[in-house]
Amino acid sequence: YKKRLFIVFEGIEGSGKSSHSKAIIKKLKNLHIPSVYLREPGGSREAESIRRFILQNKNKNFNPLTDTLLYLAARNENFLKKIKPHYGKKIIICDRFIDSTIAYQHYGFGIKKNFINSINRQIMGKIKPDYTFVMYLNIKKSILRVSKRKTSNRYDKFKKSFYKKVQNGFLKISNRNSKYMVINSSNNFFVNQDIIFNQVKKLIK
Ligand code: TMP
Repeated sequence: YKKRLFIVFEGIEGSGKSSHSKAIIKKLKNLHIPSVYLREPGGSREAESIRRFILQNKNKNFNPLTDTLLYLAARNENFLKKIKPHYGKKIIICDRFIDSTIAYQHYGFGIKKNFINSINRQIMGKIKPDYTFVMYLNIKKSILRVSKRKTSNRYDKFKKSFYKKVQNGFLKISNRNSKYMVINSSNNFFVNQDIIFNQVKKLIK
C-alpha cells in the first residue's frame, strides 16, 4: 500500500469531521496500516499550546488578521514537528488544514486569499494534502449540534450568516476538484463512514 498519503477532513463545527477522521484511523489500525491523527489548530505539543491560546474565551475578540497569523503560526509548528516527519512514513489524517483558513479567514472574514496562500506555501514547500473530505451540514443542524456541547464555540456570536459564508467557502474550494469529496452529514453516519473508507482504500492502493 501507499504510505505517502495525506488526507484532510474539513467542514463547519458539528459537521462530523472529528468523528469520521477518528473512525478512519481506527479502521487503518485494524488493518495494521501505520497512521497518525492530527488536528488544526494543534497537532504538535507547541501547536496545541497555540490552540489553547487561540480558543480561550477571552481571546474571542482578536482582530481577524491577528487570528489568521495565530492559525498560521500553529500550522508552522504542526507542520515542522508532525506532518513533515511523518510524511511518507505513515498515513496522515488531519482534522482541518489549509482550507479551514481559506473558508473561515478569507470567505468568513475577508482576509486576502493570496496572503494566506503565500504563507501556506512558505510553511509547506512542496507538501500538499492528497485528498480532502468536506463534510456538509445544514447550518441549523450545525448550530443545534454545537449548542449541545459543553464548550462554547469560538464563532458563536457570528451565528448563521457567518457559518453560511464559511460553508459556501468550503463548497467553492471543493467544486469540480477531483481531489475533493463532499459528504452529506445529514445522511447516516455508518453509510458515510463506508463511503469515506472505500475512497481511502482506493487512495491507498
Ligand atoms: P474545532 O477543532 O473544534 O473545529 O475548532 C477549531 C476552530 O478554529 C473552529 O472554530 C474553526 C477555527 N479555525 C479557523 O478559523 N481557521 C483555521 O485555519 C483553523 C485550522 C481553524
